[in-house]
Amino acid sequence: MMTQYKNYVNGEWKTSANEIKIYAPASGEELGSVPAMTPEEVDHVYASARAALPAWRALSYVERAAYLHKVADILVRDAEKIGLVLAKEVAKGYKSAVSEVVRTADIIRYAAEEGVRLSGEVLEGGSFEAASKKKIAVVRREPVGLVLAISPFNYPINLAGSKIAPALIGGNVVAFKPPTQGSISGLVLAEAFVEAGIPAGVFNTITGKGSVIGDYIVEHPAVNFINFTGSTPVGERIGRLAGMRPIMLELGGKDSAIVLEDADLALAAKNIVAGAFGYSGQRCTAVKRVLVMESVADELAELVREQVLKLTIGDPLEDADITPLIDTAAADFVEGLVKDAADKGATALTDIKRDGNLICPILFDKVTTDMRLAWEEPFGPVLPFLRVKSIEEAIEISNQSEYGLQASIFTRNYPRAFSIAEKLEVGTVHINNKTQRGTDNFPFLGAKKSGAGVQGVKYSIEAMTTLKSVVFDIE
Ligand code: NAP
Ligand code: G3H
Repeated sequence: MMTQYKNYVNGEWKTSANEIKIYAPASGEELGSVPAMTPEEVDHVYASARAALPAWRALSYVERAAYLHKVADILVRDAEKIGLVLAKEVAKGYKSAVSEVVRTADIIRYAAEEGVRLSGEVLEGGSFEAASKKKIAVVRREPVGLVLAISPFNYPINLAGSKIAPALIGGNVVAFKPPTQGSISGLVLAEAFVEAGIPAGVFNTITGKGSVIGDYIVEHPAVNFINFTGSTPVGERIGRLAGMRPIMLELGGKDSAIVLEDADLALAAKNIVAGAFGYSGQRCTAVKRVLVMESVADELAELVREQVLKLTIGDPLEDADITPLIDTAAADFVEGLVKDAADKGATALTDIKRDGNLICPILFDKVTTDMRLAWEEPFGPVLPFLRVKSIEEAIEISNQSEYGLQASIFTRNYPRAFSIAEKLEVGTVHINNKTQRGTDNFPFLGAKKSGAGVQGVKYSIEAMTTLKSVVFDIE
């Protein structure tokens, strides 16, 4: 019999009247079912969480950290078991799935450690009118309250842990909504919090389709902070619904790898292939276009092509590099971008092949700015090369994107790289490396339609806590 997964609400595992069946994208195997929560059930989640808030925020940092350390230990202990669930549910290579679990444990532990080092500050008056010399402000951090954490299908566990742990250590209570395709993994993550003995109501889960319950869970007045990772359209909608409440949005990207004439082309090719095709391109930080100087374009394209041809294609459980995309709509979307580029004259350097939702890696040269592939995020294994004549043109094309997540620059000239980095409208620039989120204590943010707010353990804690200033006069 299929496993009927349950939500964890106020210290109890709960079913709902309706269930959503979850199938493995790669094999079609039925993996189990998750509850489709009703609005009334969501009300209960939020009421329970708010009831648990006073006792949780009253704990010391070290007490809250102890729970998180236990969760991290459990995740490491069960990394292979959880990794297998994840690999099947989102068609992620097994080793990468296990790494995602371990990376989540690392983030949770780091959040616990960062929390115990949090401190406030004391400010002295006297910097404005002379009479204010007597004033002292004691500035402390307080939790924002109830945090709604929403993770995407491509990192249902890791991009949950990176929200939940900083929220909890800051004294907040959490309602966690995993992606529907990824919700079994999310509920397995919840099991670690339960085993760690997290008090009832402090950590709760909500499953159900975003298209059905999304607006309700976001608009609900019980929620104080929405921490979302996912697509730009959904993020924009959440932004509108959030009203005056603080939010963190980590959204889509169209990261450029800019390759200059003096680059180490072998190094650039290795990073471009890893950056573009890891998890079949289903990463917000994937290299999504190469802006290469005309004079080295042929050589770079050949180096990249050689490596693309070596990528393994097939089963996530056998650790193939390229695995089926998350669903048919995703594969259809990629096919549409590929067709548009081919019809408009881009040169395919690899075979264009699709089998169901499995799309073989595709490399296009001579993509031009009238093609959709120059601007749209495929979230699949297709990489366009755009040839440029100057650094200025590379910067201009990069900045014309509606997105602004990250960029890479490949050059041996560091001063020049810094000068280009200054001009790029993105959150992070990598020099001689692929675009990527880590390491997880670094700030991670997107400009323009790539997001709002700053992730990264310390930054996430700061975002999900607020300052309270108590001012008094001395004699
Ligand atoms: P998505 O469709 O936007 O879904 C993300 C999450 O939002 C899921 O849990 C989804 O639940 C939920 N959701 C859907 N509609 C909602 C609504 N109206 N209100 C509240 N929640 C709602 O994104 P995805 O397909 O999972 O992920 C791919 C996208 O995420 C890409 O664009 C990628 O670039 C972006 N991403 C960005 C980052 C980053 O850090 N910048 C990281 C990872 C992914 P359901 O599954 O139930 O619909
Ligand atoms: O998909 C978006 C993630 O934030 C990317 O993380 O660069 O570690 O794969 P990553």
